[in-house]
Amino acid sequence: MRASTLFIGAIALLPTALGQLSGSVGPLTSTSSKASKTCDVTDYGAKADKTTDIGPPLTSAWADCQKGGTVVIPEGDYAMKTWVTLKNGAAVAIQLDGIIYRTGTEGGNMIMIRDTSDFEMFSSTGKGAVQGYGYEVHKSDGQCTGARILRLYKVTSFSVHDLALVDAPMYHFSMDTCTDGEVYNMAIRGGNWGCLDGIDVWSNNIWIHDVMVTNKDECVTVKSPSKNILIENIYCNRSGGCAMGSLGADTAISQVQYKNVYTWTSNQMMMIKSWGGSGYVEDVSFENFIGHGNSYALDIDQYWSSMKEVSGSGVQLTNITMKNWKGAVANGASRGPVKVVCADGAPCSDVTIEDFSVWTESGSKMVNQCRSAYGSGECLKDGTTASYAAVSQTVTAAPTGYTAASMADDLKSDFGTTVSIPIPTMPSSFFPSVTPISKLAGS
Ligand SMILES: *[C@@H]1O[C@H](CO)[C@@H](O)[C@H](O)[C@H]1NC(C)=O
Ligand SMILES: *[C@@H]1O[C@H](CO)[C@@H](O)[C@H](O)[C@H]1NC(C)=O
Repeated sequence: MRASTLFIGAIALLPTALGQLSGSVGPLTSTSSKASKTCDVTDYGAKADKTTDIGPPLTSAWADCQKGGTVVIPEGDYAMKTWVTLKNGAAVAIQLDGIIYRTGTEGGNMIMIRDTSDFEMFSSTGKGAVQGYGYEVHKSDGQCTGARILRLYKVTSFSVHDLALVDAPMYHFSMDTCTDGEVYNMAIRGGNWGCLDGIDVWSNNIWIHDVMVTNKDECVTVKSPSKNILIENIYCNRSGGCAMGSLGADTAISQVQYKNVYTWTSNQMMMIKSWGGSGYVEDVSFENFIGHGNSYALDIDQYWSSMKEVSGSGVQLTNITMKNWKGAVANGASRGPVKVVCADGAPCSDVTIEDFSVWTESGSKMVNQCRSAYGSGECLKDGTTASYAAVSQTVTAAPTGYTAASMADDLKSDFGTTVSIPIPTMPSSFFPSVTPISKLAGS
């Protein structure tokens, strides 16, 4: 779906759904206009025999359609032994209705799209997928090595939708220095390790919605630099959880909104992570979050010990709002639902925590923690911007209204790293009682 801008006189009105976006997102020309020319990979040597390498045929099909057309990968099972970099496209689509199975072992990116505008990558049936068979690497190497599944670099006016990305050897999907993009109706499912990130974005004016991620690392994560990012209807189904970071020197993140984020049995509902560094994160909001069984709920940690300390007095966090959070953490006494630990060298300011009803699933108390953080709500301090040592706040009564809906599809156990991970079907919803913004393909 292309979000359009309505011009009345000289004033551009963005529909309210666009929230933090700065303008239109998505391809500039329609799917049907691009389909007036098609380049079917099977006419370039691809075979749905799960053996023949689809890499060279895909590159040739792109070459013929890159200046206007649709590269078609029809239904069927294809092997990918060599990776592709598809660049300099304009008004071009890739219709992936088949399933691509990784057979090659290189690092890098299985599919990289770069320096391209007016681009769409989608499945017309909702059944297109890339199966990365990461477990083969993980069980033999005992660590993450190998390829990311999909990377977009310097792509403008684009969409990626109705696809499943499964069991990446390394990461699933990243958008680096892209603008005006829309990503939606995506199912991403990886092993339960760090380094198997779902979606990582550092870009401008991007709308990511209706996405499900299973893994044990980033669900949908914003990195620096980023501006005008709207992320909504996100289902982190046994994941690491959503985050910003990790952040280092010259961080520049602003105008980011996450809303309708459902997090199940993950590390956290939302994390901002850094240690040292410089720059800023500002004008950010996290609204309508539901979480069950997560280790942390809100976890702002500017002394994050899993990264190396970066030089600098800290990334300045300003105007950060958490609103309407519900659910419970796994053990609120050891990991309280509110942890706002800011850098002493750059105390957080204008932090707002409101309608925050997160309780604990075990025990009957929770301990929140704040450090060098100013604003309103929970243990945040009012007033000046001097640093202060960590203070804790113990809560022994369940907040009213903490109970929240669960998703019928919550995953009961994870997929490990040693057995093949099945390709999921798209869920019909990504947040309790909310239907996807765009109709699912094939539904
Ligand atoms: C705080 O950020 C929100 C976006 O989350 C923005 O609408 C608001 O104007 C900002 N407030 C200030 C004082 O800049
Ligand atoms: C979430 O878990 C359910 C139940 O096992 C499953 O049907 C669904 O596909 C899972 N989501 C992902 C992203 O794998």
